[in-house]
Amino acid sequence: MPPSPTVLAVVGSLRDDSYTRTALRYVLDAAADAGAETRLLDLREYDVPVYDPDVGEQGDAAAARRLVRQADAVALGTPVYRGTFSGVLKNFHDYCGADEYEDTTVGLLATAGGGGYGPTLEHLRATVRNVHGWALPHEVGIGNASDAFVADPDAIDGRAFRDPSLRTRVETLGDRLVTYAFIDSERASPTATGD
Ligand SMILES: Cc1cc2nc3c(=O)[nH]c(=O)nc-3n(C[C@H](O)[C@H](O)[C@H](O)COP(=O)(O)O)c2cc1C
Repeated sequence: MPPSPTVLAVVGSLRDDSYTRTALRYVLDAAADAGAETRLLDLREYDVPVYDPDVGEQGDAAAARRLVRQADAVALGTPVYRGTFSGVLKNFHDYCGADEYEDTTVGLLATAGGGGYGPTLEHLRATVRNVHGWALPHEVGIGNASDAFVADPDAIDGRAFRDPSLRTRVETLGDRLVTYAFIDSERASPTATGD
């Protein structure tokens, strides 16, 4: 039996009532149901100063980076800010590199006030490729975020998805992160090249 993978979710919003954080909790809940050990990396709880190459590691950046390095799979969640992913997530990502993401399966999720999350997911996919992460084809965009949830005291964060198909899409991301958690280049390349 394969070992339980570790799935980490990185919250790219600092907002107290972040919809992105709630959606990532649903992702982790589904990943736990599929057998993963899960952890939320809430960047509000870490001192991650603006990355300065002349200084390098600062504050809690090393501790936060270590969580990414130790994870088998990582869900990156961000609000859409100015048509792309948040500065909070970008800044943390500037501390990370292939040491953190090589052979790591990555799930992408973006939450928009309007309907335009497509470019943000593409930008995330590009920066994950840059650090050699394996971004899953399945991704989640949540549009009109303030209307995407309804109050439900029994639900995660007291919020249930208004649209059950969106909830399924979010949970599928958690499930796929577990299914593909142990993807790596050694196993993937023979299939890809036909060797
Ligand atoms: C600085 C800023 C820029 C934003 N830019 C966009 C945008 O370009 N497109 C959009 O649809 N929503 C935009 N929004 C709305 C957020 O994407 C939306 O409120 C989202 O749900 C926030 O995620 P959160 O609840 O996880 O913090 C912006 C919000 C802020 C604060």
